[in-house]
Amino acid sequence: MTPAMIVCVCKSVSDRTIRSSIADGIDSFDELQFELGVASCCGKCEESVRDVMMQSGVCASRCGVVEHHTQAVPLTFYERKAA
Ligand code: FES
Repeated sequence: MTPAMIVCVCKSVSDRTIRSSIADGIDSFDELQFELGVASCCGKCEESVRDVMMQSGVCASRCGVVEHHTQAVPLTFYERKAA
């Protein structure tokens, strides 16, 4: 087993704790921040937290979306006719 790496020094949160929380169903940065306190002190760990999220298969973008669905949206074109 690889040793845990502290991601958030201020709150003493390791990458293992973050992965465990994600495995338990947390799927957004905001939830991790609320539940674990990461990036709620100095904020320097935010990018590292997002990296761990991305490695765990959770969207690390600021949107907090777990899966991006690429569903085709039908487009409708309107012709503009001269009066
Ligand atoms: S290192 Fe995470 S808030 Fe400071």
